[in-house]
Amino acid sequence: MNRSEEIESAGTAAGASEEVLLVFESMFGSTRRIAEAIADGIRTSLPVGVYRVADLPSAEGRRLVVVGAPTHAHSLSRPESRAEGRRWARDRARFALEPGPHDIGVREWIPVARLSGDSFAAFDTRIDMPWIFTGSAAGAISKRLRRRGLREFLPPESFLVDKDSRLLPGEAERAFEWGRTLGAALRAETGDAARRESRS
Ligand SMILES: Cc1cc2nc3c(=O)[nH]c(=O)nc-3n(C[C@H](O)[C@H](O)[C@H](O)COP(=O)(O)O)c2cc1C
Repeated sequence: MNRSEEIESAGTAAGASEEVLLVFESMFGSTRRIAEAIADGIRTSLPVGVYRVADLPSAEGRRLVVVGAPTHAHSLSRPESRAEGRRWARDRARFALEPGPHDIGVREWIPVARLSGDSFAAFDTRIDMPWIFTGSAAGAISKRLRRRGLREFLPPESFLVDKDSRLLPGEAERAFEWGRTLGAALRAETGDAARRESRS
């Protein structure tokens, strides 16, 4: 299958053994680090599969899909902003480019993703300034996934970087806690549903 056929049938790369799927996009590694910390937090309650968006994971049959991306131009990245990011990465002293491909971001994945799951939670990374100046990729993810019929499980969350796109101290720990809350709430919901079923 060539890349455009793969994109058209998005959903070839991931198995669906875990109830939680975490999909992330990252140019310089900060959103990946946050994704890994969130996954570690979720794992204290439930198993989770973690995939780069360019691997075109299938979200079919998952109870919860967690989706995260860096904020570019106040929203989700586009091919042009990712090209701009690649130009920034020529300054190797300041930026280290994540392994590619970078042809597909969360903006391109959501419309083609197989999403028969139930709920979602969105996160982003963005610069440490008031939201009004930075925008938020998580807000854009949330809007698109709600439009695709998924239920928002927790409000969107942002994790902060400095002007060189490096995570601020404490943000990975905060991401772990957010993941832990997410996993525990999902597990509690599963327990409630099982108890209701056994009573009926
Ligand atoms: C082209 C481009 C545009 C950006 N625009 C914004 C922006 O509008 N608001 C913001 O908070 N951060 C912006 N940033 C900074 C990114 O949010 C930051 O690079 C990202 O959080 C780092 O995550 P990553 O290492 O996973 O790519 C931009 C970065 C790039 C490359």
